Amino acid sequence: MPFAVPALPIPTSPGEDERMRQIIPALLDSVRDHARSWFETLPARPVRASASSAQLRQSLGGPLAENGAPPADVIAALASAGAAGTIASAGPRYFGFVVGGSAPAALAADWLVSMWDQNACTFAHSPLVSTVEQITGSWLRDLAGLPSTMSFGFVTGGHMANFTSLACARHSVLRKAGWDVETNGLSGAPPIEICVNEESHYTIFLALRLLGLGSARVRKIPADGQGRMRADRLGAALRETSGPCIVCAQAGNVNTGAFDPLTAIADATRERGAWLHVDGAFGVWAAASPQHAHLVRGIERADSVATDAHKWLNVPYDCGLVFCADESAHRSAMSLAAAYIGASGGERDPHEFVPEESRRARAIPVYAALRSLGRRGLAEMIERNCRQARRFGNALRAEGFEVLNDIVLNQVLVSFGAPERTQATIAALQQDGTCWCGGTVWQGRTAMRISVSNWSTTDDDVENSIEAIVRCARSIGS
Ligand SMILES: Cc1ncc(COP(=O)(O)O)c(C=O)c1O
Repeated sequence: MPFAVPALPIPTSPGEDERMRQIIPALLDSVRDHARSWFETLPARPVRASASSAQLRQSLGGPLAENGAPPADVIAALASAGAAGTIASAGPRYFGFVVGGSAPAALAADWLVSMWDQNACTFAHSPLVSTVEQITGSWLRDLAGLPSTMSFGFVTGGHMANFTSLACARHSVLRKAGWDVETNGLSGAPPIEICVNEESHYTIFLALRLLGLGSARVRKIPADGQGRMRADRLGAALRETSGPCIVCAQAGNVNTGAFDPLTAIADATRERGAWLHVDGAFGVWAAASPQHAHLVRGIERADSVATDAHKWLNVPYDCGLVFCADESAHRSAMSLAAAYIGASGGERDPHEFVPEESRRARAIPVYAALRSLGRRGLAEMIERNCRQARRFGNALRAEGFEVLNDIVLNQVLVSFGAPERTQATIAALQQDGTCWCGGTVWQGRTAMRISVSNWSTTDDDVENSIEAIVRCARSIGS
């Protein structure tokens, strides 16, 4: 599968520049053709890569040539390598990690984003992007059941949303203690007490580390067998603390999908005068479904909320969101003026709410996804995926395998017996290619994790995947 990329002199003359500009439509047509064949094969293609990294390096690597290649050849080589080296994670039978697909309108809008190449930094850079961010952020806040006064920012994903949220928290709790962390840093600052669910996603600890708060200096609050923080233990821990304090709760455990008891946690946190952060990378969107909204009750009392759009909202990578109850803390933690970046006279300057400055117009695919789904479409997708997750659990249980979690959302944990047996089943399934599931260790038990998060997964996809999982599990000798 060698991809020949012939060399072409770099265009230097004005005429050559013009010729290069003229090939853009044909180049995009060729991408459209590649896209068409990709999407025609996506639902049926094996959910695994067919090329090894060595083969991909051989096709795409080597030293960078002195002279440039024709753009059409570059695209052809990438498209060919992409067909072999990608995993069909946007397709209907990918159940690994928590990976959504791309809703059609979101994908198409993402192409517009690349075409426009707008910088989502300030209103001056792009009135369109600033305005669409404003509209989309308000819709999302509403769908998540959050107060209309919360500020928001579009970041790269859940990790950066946790990071931004905790930067806002750090600002606020230290400001109340008389310390300006943005100006003075952390040296000499009052210590901050941090209480986290012991089953928090690892990005909470990574965010704390990046913020200079230390990933090991936290009080880990015990969780129950589903990964829900024990509110009674949080209350007891908070009573032992004094001074600035942050509590990190979770809406949707990455393994079990379980939700912390947010109302009880909000009560304990409020009584202590601490900041409440909720990591709801995918779980927040339960709020958009009448059947599941009760799971996130209490989230409206959070001081900050982190979530993703590139997971269950089914927009292309990358897009996460941060919401903050204290807009002034949000701006103080994130923005720093420069002489040439003046405030945009009451218009939204997106960079004021995120760690980045120059950035992609991430809100536009989200706008398209929401506009095309509507409230009902989003609720139906969430409910369909949850029903499909329950079907996985019931079918695998009926086949004699052990389901380790209560299926409250879209996540299923299955054990096939001894750890080696479960690992071998996962390896066999990934090789089989009917569907893709990954492994995890849940409270000491090795498990296969199934996450149903894609708009295009049909009930037939689920049945075919169950059949493949059972076949692979049975193929492992005892
Ligand atoms: C609960 C939770 N928080 C944070 C993250 C990190 O999100 P991202 O990978 O978008 O940075 C994840 C990812 O699965 C998650 O499940």
